[in-house]
Amino acid sequence: MVTFSTIKEISAYLGQQKATGRSIGFVPTMGALHKGHMALMQRAKNENDLLVVSIFVNPEQFNNADDLKKYPRTLREDSQKLEEIACDVLFAPDTNEMYPEKVTEQYDFGQLDKVMEGVFRPGHFNGVAIVVKKLLDIVRPDRAYFGEKDFQQLAIIKKLVAMEKIPVEIVPCPIVREPDGLAMSSRNRLLNSEDRKIAPFIYKTLKEAKLRRNHICANPLRQMIINIFEGNDHFRLEYFDIVNDETLQPVNAWNNKTGTIACVAVWLGNIRLIDNIRII
Ligand code: PAF
Repeated sequence: MVTFSTIKEISAYLGQQKATGRSIGFVPTMGALHKGHMALMQRAKNENDLLVVSIFVNPEQFNNADDLKKYPRTLREDSQKLEEIACDVLFAPDTNEMYPEKVTEQYDFGQLDKVMEGVFRPGHFNGVAIVVKKLLDIVRPDRAYFGEKDFQQLAIIKKLVAMEKIPVEIVPCPIVREPDGLAMSSRNRLLNSEDRKIAPFIYKTLKEAKLRRNHICANPLRQMIINIFEGNDHFRLEYFDIVNDETLQPVNAWNNKTGTIACVAVWLGNIRLIDNIRII
């Protein structure tokens, strides 16, 4: 694996690789790599000649300074994991390299970033879009891989790529779960052992929503699941919603012709967790 920390060096290297006709699969990450990331990377390896991974904790997407400070940074451990899966290129820039000047871009994603995460994390998706656009411009991959756990992020990245006409295929990859159902996330390692045991309740409740969908209409089901989360003292619910999988707007009646996703964000202790499940 070759590691670069400057845009100039990685651009030159990947330019040479592309000139020989090699395809590039790209997995952008913020590090603290887990099996979910590794599944994206394995898929990118299988489908491309070269696997490029970036590790950059992007300050622009944190609307909470404490969250940014707490975010796990484990570059040495991550590099080891990347070596083990035979990653070809790691790009690990610092903040000055990525943002030598004050960032000013403002994207308009219409209604996509006005719901769910967008309500509770103002500016978050603009920050994600800024860094993803920049990384895609640097790496110029054939395919870029994103996990469906961040379902809203994925929808916004698809829109960004369409709006900016970026020549890349966005490949969505299924959520990878722990054996007890907890969706893999870099934040899981911040849970204390007590909360870690409680956390699978999130997926258990999402599965309950999916099961009930054949028996209850969308609005009462939404309220029922909200009540279940609010009735559990361990959690502080930010949102639970049942939304169209393209527009991300709330679904009020079942329609088997459109995709429907149930999404949740909760605080468990001082750790914020998100998850989702396909309902239709
Ligand atoms: O999903 C993430 O880890 C980040 O939001 C991403 C896409 C790497 C951008 O910083």
